Amino acid sequence: MSIFKKFINYYKPYKKLFYFDMFCAIIVSIVDLAFPQILKFLTNGLFTQGTSVIVKYIGIVAILMFVMYIIRTYCEYFITSWGHIMGANMESNMRQDLFDQYQRLSFSYYDQNNTGDMMSKLVSDLFDISELAHHGPENIFISTFKIVGSFIFLAFISVPLTMILVVITIAMLVFCLILNRKMQATFTDNRKKIAGVNSAVQDSLSGIRVVKSFANEDIEHEKFDYSNRMFLNSKTAQYKMMGKYHAGTSFFKGLLYLAIIVCGGLFVAYGKMNVADLAVYALYIGIFITPVEVLINFTEQFQKGYAGFKRFLDVIELNPDIVDKNEADELKNVGGNIDFNNVSFSYEEGSKVLSNINIHIEKGKTVALVGPSGGGKTTLCSLIPRFYDVDKGDILIDGQNIKDVTLKSLRSSIGVVQQDVYMFGGSIKDNIAYGKPGATDEEIIEAAKNANIHDFIMELEDGYDTYVGERGTRLSGGQKQRISIARVFLKNPEILILDEATSALDNESERHIQLSLEKLSKDRTTIVIAHRLSTIKNADEIIVIVNGRTTERGNHKELIAKNGLYAKYYNMQFEGLEKFDIYED
Ligand SMILES: Nc1ncnc2c1ncn2[C@@H]1O[C@H](COP(=O)(O)OP(=O)(O)OP(=O)(O)O)[C@@H](O)[C@H]1O
Ligand SMILES: [Mg+2]
Repeated sequence: MSIFKKFINYYKPYKKLFYFDMFCAIIVSIVDLAFPQILKFLTNGLFTQGTSVIVKYIGIVAILMFVMYIIRTYCEYFITSWGHIMGANMESNMRQDLFDQYQRLSFSYYDQNNTGDMMSKLVSDLFDISELAHHGPENIFISTFKIVGSFIFLAFISVPLTMILVVITIAMLVFCLILNRKMQATFTDNRKKIAGVNSAVQDSLSGIRVVKSFANEDIEHEKFDYSNRMFLNSKTAQYKMMGKYHAGTSFFKGLLYLAIIVCGGLFVAYGKMNVADLAVYALYIGIFITPVEVLINFTEQFQKGYAGFKRFLDVIELNPDIVDKNEADELKNVGGNIDFNNVSFSYEEGSKVLSNINIHIEKGKTVALVGPSGGGKTTLCSLIPRFYDVDKGDILIDGQNIKDVTLKSLRSSIGVVQQDVYMFGGSIKDNIAYGKPGATDEEIIEAAKNANIHDFIMELEDGYDTYVGERGTRLSGGQKQRISIARVFLKNPEILILDEATSALDNESERHIQLSLEKLSKDRTTIVIAHRLSTIKNADEIIVIVNGRTTERGNHKELIAKNGLYAKYYNMQFEGLEKFDIYED
């Protein structure tokens, strides 16, 4: 399907509105074109009669013209309001489509694209598209109609004078198109610079806590000042160009009037034209000059809208990397046996993050992953809910390949607790209920109790209805984490993934969280990544992962006896870091 056809598709629900909009556009053009004709008709006919005749008929003329302008007014109202409303509706449909597509796209898309960019697609690109959708057809239609109409009427009066006007108009067109192209370059530059300003603001505000803790307001000021100034320069260039453009077109307008007065005057002098017709000429200039400008501006609107629509399609037509395959089964009656068979994975081609991983986890058991930072522990865990797909090998749950089941059923049976907890804007209750939409208050409270956060919530003035602030800024790290644990209690999945859930907390909070995590992992298959070895000592199996390979495995006792990397880490933590040189070998 061509881009054009895809664009037309969005008009489909509003066909009737669109046709009526076009119909109104024709009426407006006809009325505008009619006025000079009426004037010509009256000056050459009725107004040459005697006083009594004029007085007798002028009332009828008034009524007819009044009706004509009432109709025009209604049409104008319709075009401006409903035409725009149609555009806004199309924009809203596109925005919903784009948002849904963003929800479908896989993690890998988000690794490579920034949110500022995605936001601007949702907002400014779509606005350009809707403007084009509404004004495009109407502008082409009305303008062409008016220009062609004007010149036909003018040619009826005098072909030579019309020819002169055509030549001047073409010269003006060429001038405008050249300047317009330059102006467009400044517009594009403008867009880039304002995007720079936006991302500077976004970056600085999202990191405002870091900014303040380093007392780096001055540096942020400088950074912002730079992008702000770049934007100002770009706007200045744009306005200079705009000045030239407008002054230039006025000059050509002047030339047109000059040609009419001088050439028309000569035609009148030689008896080739009457004075009333000359006045009609002047009126038609007013009618066709605006559409000429509209058409020129339209080229810009078209390019902006077209580019926006193409960017929109680029995203809409992306196939998410990870989707259900045809006839995918539901993952039902999950026991929780997990198998990694010869799994290899890389984010980018050529740099392997995991190589030949073989792990078998018995239902209900706890496996702990340990190893140096960047070894691939988080990556390994993110393969189970299919945030990324394996390159080689298979992952099975209860003997069923995870690629053969629906994503929804797979992800419903896995609960993930991450260190970096995301809180949505809303109340504490809403945030816990995210684990099970539609949960009852009793269920939510039960989950909060299990997560050791109920007492804290009850101490708050608004209790469960307390607003948590954007990203949960009003809560401590440990509190956020306990809310995320409550979410998972509510979700009640068969498989649990805990990624460094206990790091970066003081002993007291860690104890709290440890207790609730122990409760949570009871009777569930659990994979836990923790840097504090004391918390994983009781795991059924401990797997050491270094550079994407499993290097040691066994229970705590076995690994200590082996005296390998695990034993070294363990001793380091327990005997105090100062006694050990971390950097040895
Ligand atoms: N989204 C991503 N895109 C590309 N590379 C990534 C991505 N996430 C992680 N990596 C890379 O993959 C490797 C493994 O990262 P991973 O997060 O799995 O390590 P980890 O063992 O969890 O480390 P840590 O203990 O510090 O959390 C690292 O080299 C990292 O740079
Ligand atoms: Mg990690």
